[in-house]
Amino acid sequence: MRTVHSLKELRTILRGYRQQGKTIGLVPTMGNLHEGHISLVRKAAEMADVVVTSIFVNPMQFGAGEDLDTYPRTLAEDQEKLASAGNTLVFAPAAEEIYPEGLAKQTQVIVPDVSDGHCGASRPGHFEGVATVVTMLFNMVQPDFAVFGEKDFQQLAVIRKMVRDLMIPVDVVGAPTVREDDGLAKSSRNGYLTAQERQIAPAVHQALQATATKINDGRTDFQALESEAEQSLGDAGLRPDYFNIVNSQTLKPATPEDREITILAAAFLGKTRLIDNLSLTR
Ligand code: PAJ
Repeated sequence: MRTVHSLKELRTILRGYRQQGKTIGLVPTMGNLHEGHISLVRKAAEMADVVVTSIFVNPMQFGAGEDLDTYPRTLAEDQEKLASAGNTLVFAPAAEEIYPEGLAKQTQVIVPDVSDGHCGASRPGHFEGVATVVTMLFNMVQPDFAVFGEKDFQQLAVIRKMVRDLMIPVDVVGAPTVREDDGLAKSSRNGYLTAQERQIAPAVHQALQATATKINDGRTDFQALESEAEQSLGDAGLRPDYFNIVNSQTLKPATPEDREITILAAAFLGKTRLIDNLSLTR
């Protein structure tokens, strides 16, 4: 497995693969890889001849006061995990390689509507940063497909809409959320949790499951269900950011007629912001 840092080198190597008629799968990440990321790489390796994993902590998608500076950078460990998962090439550029003129002069991709609300409301500019860097990664790697986790449900919806609207010739593949044994969704940010917070963290998944059970039992008073869940998160020691029951396609508030429903949740635990979601069919 090779690691390249420059776009020039990346393009040279990928040109060779393309001339050999090989298919290319891309897995965009910010590194500090865990089993969730690795599941995406394995999926890509099943589908493509060549798997490119990008590792780039994208400054454009971090807001002021967020964890850009403290976000864990663990390239050596990441390389080991990727090599044993069947990855072909790691692209780990420096910020100057991606944004040579700086962020202020960077063209941006805006994906309206689906970026509004939920994480988009709590993190202004976040999805513009994601959409912009993913567009650039698509143009740099020119993959046949790219794999994204359902863990970041709104992000996946934003990328699907962007690819549709801009006629980007990349298939977007979703992959299920990988969890710890107690239900906590694996996340690079789980490493920020203290031992005590780590005990409390599964409450997010538990609130999602409890709400799904109530919906499956026939309840359609979604606003009341959201309040009950926020209450339970508060009782467990978390500070709910949002808890929204939405139509899985539009990400707008669910109505009793909706069949495909997704419950989106974000909550602070100390300084750490946890997100998770759960989809159900009625
Ligand atoms: P990052 O948080 O590193 O996640 C990279 C990919 O791994 C995303 O598609 C994310 O949904 C997926 N992922 C994370 N945790 C997962 C889990 N527990 N189970 C399954 N998949 C999981 O998401 C980003 O980086 C960035 O926004 C990025 C798309 C790379 C753009 O900068």
